[in-house]
Amino acid sequence: MRIAVGSDHAGFDLKSALAGHLAAGGHEVVDLGTDSPDFPVDYPVFGLAVARAVAGGRADRGLCVCGTGIGIGIAANKVVGVRAAVVHDVTTASLARRHNDANVVCLGARISGLAEATDAVDTFFTTAYEGGRHQKRLDEISQYETSRTDPAGATVAGTGDDHERQQPSS
Ligand code: RB5
Repeated sequence: MRIAVGSDHAGFDLKSALAGHLAAGGHEVVDLGTDSPDFPVDYPVFGLAVARAVAGGRADRGLCVCGTGIGIGIAANKVVGVRAAVVHDVTTASLARRHNDANVVCLGARISGLAEATDAVDTFFTTAYEGGRHQKRLDEISQYETSRTDPAGATVAGTGDDHERQQPSS
């Protein structure tokens, strides 16, 4: 599998260790930076780079690491077609694949130890999507991404949230 990896400074050491592990396991790893733990950088730069590589077909999947996995995951999820999941262990990594067909895995270097992170990543890259009842839900997300329309019959009574809906850009 061709895997794009990226991190900020906080995630650099864990990203490097996981990239080495994946390469040793036969994956083709494309490291999009950052290149040092010593200089603060902004996680959106690297989350977006990994996400674009996946959405653009230059990588099959992505791996993102920051301090918590949260910021870089938020950034990655802004790219249409990307389903980035913050995982903490084998269970969340497995469910992110089986139920959500996540194509980018995000980890927190200040949250997960190397052994736990390695097990989670191995699980993520070897677990298949189950499809079935989950596909309709992923389709609803894709529909919102592309047309900003809600799932059919999705009015949530009493929320008054019409003003919160984003409109497609013209
Ligand atoms: C960097 O200090 C830290 O904020 C970043 O790595 C990440 O945890 C943000 O979500």
